[in-house]
Amino acid sequence: MINPDEIQKIREDFPILHETVRDGKKLVYLDNAATTQKPKQVVDAISEYYLKYNANVHRGIHALSEIASDMYDEAHQRVSDFLNAGFKEVAFVRNTTEALNVFTYGYEKFISKGDEIVVSRMEHHSNMIPFMKLAERTGATFKYIELNEDNSELDLTSAEEVITDKTKIVSVPHMSNVLGTINPVKKLADITHDAGALFVLDGAQSVPHMKVDVKDLKVDFMGFSGHKMMAPMGSGGFYGREELLDKLEPLFYGGDMIKVVTYKDVTWNDLPWKFEAGTPNVGGGIGLGAAVEYLQKLTMNKVRGIEHYLTKYAMKRLTEYDWVRTYGPSSIEKRGGVISFNVYNNDGMLIHPHDVATLLDEEGIAIRAGHHCAQPLTVEKLCIPATNRMSFYIYNTTEEIDFTIDQLERVHKMFS
Ligand SMILES: Cc1ncc(COP(=O)(O)O)c(C=O)c1O
Repeated sequence: MINPDEIQKIREDFPILHETVRDGKKLVYLDNAATTQKPKQVVDAISEYYLKYNANVHRGIHALSEIASDMYDEAHQRVSDFLNAGFKEVAFVRNTTEALNVFTYGYEKFISKGDEIVVSRMEHHSNMIPFMKLAERTGATFKYIELNEDNSELDLTSAEEVITDKTKIVSVPHMSNVLGTINPVKKLADITHDAGALFVLDGAQSVPHMKVDVKDLKVDFMGFSGHKMMAPMGSGGFYGREELLDKLEPLFYGGDMIKVVTYKDVTWNDLPWKFEAGTPNVGGGIGLGAAVEYLQKLTMNKVRGIEHYLTKYAMKRLTEYDWVRTYGPSSIEKRGGVISFNVYNNDGMLIHPHDVATLLDEEGIAIRAGHHCAQPLTVEKLCIPATNRMSFYIYNTTEEIDFTIDQLERVHKMFS
């Protein structure tokens, strides 16, 4: 059971939540699937780096560079431990998008005509376009795992049909940023490995919100975004099984990712540095380490518990109204803290999500409206131009949900 006082205590770490917007309106931030707010502990860790030991890493022999290198490496170790991965298996990149592009370019040499690449019908563009283009470059066939009848979950029968002995890669989201669905990753990993293919996971919406143990989930490669888990913008990373990363061609070439360079040849640096060409985002990496430390102290069970409590509450409230339609699984157990919904007027006409989001914004409420970078899912599967989306994190409250629903009532009345 979640005690609301615990959430109030967490809120004290986030000064931005006490800001007002739009001429004095209290901020209600419900756009956490896009990016989360940052606690003081993370901002302090970043400013300490810049104010006290800013230097380039892995290059200098001087004192500052040594401290910066140690702190940056320590952040790597912390993130690796958080995912139950080895130190060599986690590299820092800008975000999930970059991670998945590193994978698709790096693995290209192992894909040829006649091979098959499989993603699902619920992809964010980041986990779809890199694979679509990989298939185009190599002549491989690009296939989709279908959704179930009400477009809320992946259809495992379809997965078993679509994944064949020609499949080389299967990539799915751990959690959908539109439907909120948490996919049965272990089962999908088993189906994939039985077919002899690699299992790639888009961890953008799961790593910040639940315990993700890459070994337990039998993931071969996974991308994630630091900014969606309280770390700064431009911080994120990927996990790859060590043997896989050994074989993967680096996408970026340059300084720090090499061991020996001659006028004729080059050998790669040890993992994970092979994938961190040039000066890295040191402050961002240190901030990511601090964000993970914050989550570890809170525990991922608590994070999931708070989001479960908020999602259950919001779904119950939203389903009180016959003019609200929600998307994704009806079972709370199968979903994370993301709720996409639409609002209709008394004549059953859709109130465009952009109108809804604009009217809520007037009251200080930040939700997202659009196709959420999953245009095929929204437009071709759900058959709507856009949805509204509220998404929660550890600092949201049931009062914020109530206030948002009061404002939805106002919008409904205004358009009816
Ligand atoms: C499921 C999913 N995958 C990938 C991404 C891409 O993340 P980023 O923009 O941080 O690369 C997002 C971002 O919203 C997402 O929700």
